Amino acid sequence: MRKIISGLSAEENTDLLEQQRQERYMEAAREKTAALAARLHRTPTCHVTNFGCQMNAKDAEKLLGILLSAGFEETQDEAADFLIYNTCTVRDNADQRVFGRLGRVSHYRKNNPDMKIALCGCMMQEDLNVEKVLKSYPFVDLIFGTHNLFRFPEYLAQVLDSGERIVDIWKKTDRIVESLPSERKYSFKSGVNITFGCDNFCSYCIVPYVRGRERSRKPEEILGEIRALSESGVKEIMLLGQNVNSYGRGLDEPCTFAELIDRAAKIDGIRRIRFMTPHPKDFSDELIEVIKRNENIARHVHLPLQSGSTQILKQMNRKYTKEQYLALAEKIRTRLPDAAITTDIIVGFPGETDRDVDDTIDVIRRVHFDNAYTFIYSKRTGTPAARMEDPATEEEKKDRFSRVLKCVQQSAKERALLLQGKVMTGLVEEVNTQSPGKVTARLSDNMIVHIDGDESMIGKFYPIRLDICCGFYYFGETAGEEIV
Ligand code: SAH
Ligand code: SF4
Ligand code: F3S
Repeated sequence: MRKIISGLSAEENTDLLEQQRQERYMEAAREKTAALAARLHRTPTCHVTNFGCQMNAKDAEKLLGILLSAGFEETQDEAADFLIYNTCTVRDNADQRVFGRLGRVSHYRKNNPDMKIALCGCMMQEDLNVEKVLKSYPFVDLIFGTHNLFRFPEYLAQVLDSGERIVDIWKKTDRIVESLPSERKYSFKSGVNITFGCDNFCSYCIVPYVRGRERSRKPEEILGEIRALSESGVKEIMLLGQNVNSYGRGLDEPCTFAELIDRAAKIDGIRRIRFMTPHPKDFSDELIEVIKRNENIARHVHLPLQSGSTQILKQMNRKYTKEQYLALAEKIRTRLPDAAITTDIIVGFPGETDRDVDDTIDVIRRVHFDNAYTFIYSKRTGTPAARMEDPATEEEKKDRFSRVLKCVQQSAKERALLLQGKVMTGLVEEVNTQSPGKVTARLSDNMIVHIDGDESMIGKFYPIRLDICCGFYYFGETAGEEIV
């Protein structure tokens, strides 16, 4: 039986107590930052560099929110008084990028002895990486992982107080502490976490080891957050999770992902909803119907394929076959004819042959993907695939990668051309820094269009005519007034 304290379950109560504890540390961090400002005779600066996926980007907003709330001022320069790298370890090149940057950071520190340097995120959940940092980068002041990010106010207060290095990595957590300050990158769109962690254990993937078991937030909390975002002017939200459509497992009151997004779509002021990432094995007919019924759910399904070969999919532990994937994609194309289907593909998985790659290419052609991210397999220590025999040479893998990439590009271009001349609704996201006098808008199907415009259009919807197709993006022009 659960112990009830002041109307909250014991579990909720500990989350609440933890939150109050961190709020007290926020106060302490504010005092320390004020003392630092007095010493420097200026407002101390901070910078958060983010690597990796949408979930990390959401975490980065929390880190920045906490630093700003403590009294730091954001700078675009990494040579700040407080620098954080929020790391990713999904592929080896992500790790290497962080180590490469750390080399440069030691110079910033030499020029500014007051500078504090923190590392957090997925890479820090791996012992070998932490050991390497401790040994080779002694100037790093603070290291924490993915499970205890909500303790950042506490670490911040401590690290500003003492010159001692703080290292705190947790192996897991069942905590969900979500109400700390957060600084959104965009005023008109926002990600909303619905699940944390992953239970799928695809054999190549490190994420379940560094992000822990899958936990779903309660529907009321998610919907409450979306309502509050809408009231603060957010028009587009993206529901975030490693496997969003397995949402709801383990909740006291059952709720499927289809039910959740259906309720979210009905919240006043939310004009567009996206979700990232669904898993093909959990993509229900109910979800397809909910998307069809709600015009404000984006016409974009990102459906990671990984491989088109049933044999490789089995080795990957993806739990679907080539035929099942094709049948699902066809159902989506038939029921949602205006939706783009995009995907992720891995080339060079252990044991993959030319025949397997032929199957992947066959799926690309048959689904006619609107876009795809193609990756060369990267061995992650500790995953089952890392122990599989991998006889293919680098040369062979590169050739296969080029074949797949060519096919993906062809498919994306053909799909994009189908939109030429159409007028579609775009949400203007930012000023185009490459072409003066232009802004960049995103359509419901995720297509990017560059149009003439200025800053005043950001966060607004316009009808846009798609004039010139440039492969996977367009140049176009507004075809009317703002759509309100
Ligand atoms: N949860 C999401 C995203 C996971 S990471 C999903 O299941 O799709 C994003 C992408 O990185 C994956 O879809 C996969 O294509 C790729 N990826 C993951 N681990 C990888 C590895 N070890 N080597 C190469 N690509 C990998
Ligand atoms: Fe990794 Fe698979 Fe989980 Fe995606 S679903 S995060 S690829 S284990
Ligand atoms: Fe990378 Fe972690 Fe996301 S490993 S892809 S940042 S969950």
